[in-house]
Amino acid sequence: MGKIKIGIVGTGSISNYHMKAYRNNADAEIYAVCDMNAQRAEAQAAAFGASQVYTDYAGMMADPQVDAVSICTWNNTHAPFAIQALEAGKHVLVEKPLCMTVQEALEVEKAVMKSGKQLQIGYVRRYDPNAAMLKGWITAGEVGSIYYAKASSIRRLGNPGGWFADKTRSGGGPLIDLGVHIIDLCWYLMGRPKVKSVSGNTYKKLGQRNHVQGLSFYKSADYDAESNTVEDMANALIRFENGASLMVDVSFTLHARRDESSVRLYGDKGGLEIDPEVLLISEKSNTIVTVTPQTDHASFDADQAFQNEIDHFIACCREDRSPLSPVQDGVEMMKILCGIYESAEQGREIVFD
Ligand SMILES: NC(=O)c1ccc[n+]([C@@H]2O[C@H](COP(=O)([O-])OP(=O)(O)OC[C@H]3O[C@@H](n4cnc5c(N)ncnc54)[C@H](O)[C@@H]3O)[C@@H](O)[C@H]2O)c1
Repeated sequence: MGKIKIGIVGTGSISNYHMKAYRNNADAEIYAVCDMNAQRAEAQAAAFGASQVYTDYAGMMADPQVDAVSICTWNNTHAPFAIQALEAGKHVLVEKPLCMTVQEALEVEKAVMKSGKQLQIGYVRRYDPNAAMLKGWITAGEVGSIYYAKASSIRRLGNPGGWFADKTRSGGGPLIDLGVHIIDLCWYLMGRPKVKSVSGNTYKKLGQRNHVQGLSFYKSADYDAESNTVEDMANALIRFENGASLMVDVSFTLHARRDESSVRLYGDKGGLEIDPEVLLISEKSNTIVTVTPQTDHASFDADQAFQNEIDHFIACCREDRSPLSPVQDGVEMMKILCGIYESAEQGREIVFD
């Protein structure tokens, strides 16, 4: 079998991680890139040796040489681009979130089933070496049954602006952008229990805060403060059918003392922390202990995680096997995320059938 020829759509910031990882994979060839910003597409093609450059996605989809695509565009294009690729007989790796609505997720799922092609969601945290280590501990019974998890991704100043702040292109703010990572990580480590209900709150009190002085980061060039249509922060309680629960809070901006990222899971035999560092809390001979593993990855290693994600995608394409982060998990995630937005809007808990 020859190399899998890859077409990458969206040559912005995250595409670099995809392209570096494809370049390192002996079974993949970066064949084409596509971006409606021609200059950006040309630059990425030159940097990574793609022979074809498209500014129109339909053109890349009509190219029979493309075996598989990485979708690295704004969230509003994920579902239509994934469906187009599947209908053209191409495998798909789509960045998180899968899409913007439950309806879209169901349509993508239908297209996957019909095409028989692979679709992998870029839930990169699942491919982190630490997530694999924790999954191994959980499978080995180290923490027993996980009944509670708590995750935070708090930026005190970090609304990226641009399309991230435009709900029509992003589908929402920190919940759909940051929350998707930590909710998925917890849910995956908890064994993907079926969601029973969600109760959430969203707040839009601070905006992008580009009036603050002395700070250069997170001031997007195309940002118009007047057009910020996403929440600043969100919190939620997610209940699962097996009785487990997950509490989450996320922000693009908040009067918090510092940025904070934490992911913690609690079982009936032990506890786990993955962010900010990996820990196992347990009992040894009637003593409560905290175990710190010796590992090369003290915390989340983005380069390694993206490499694992891309290597897994290529292996799934070649061997025709289902990915670790399949479309069904995207449908469940969209139920959770959209349910939280709906709950916040209606001021009540949303219960699923
Ligand atoms: N896995 C992660 O940790 C992670 C991190 C950042 C972003 N992302 C995801 O990656 C995606 C892209 O984010 P980014 O930060 O790279 O954004 P970006 O704005 O830097 O890049 C997106 C690119 O897509 C192009 N584009 C948009 N619509 C297009 C269309 N219809 N046709 C052709 N090109 C189009 C834009 O011109 C732009 O160059 C988002 O879905 C985001 O959620 C994932």
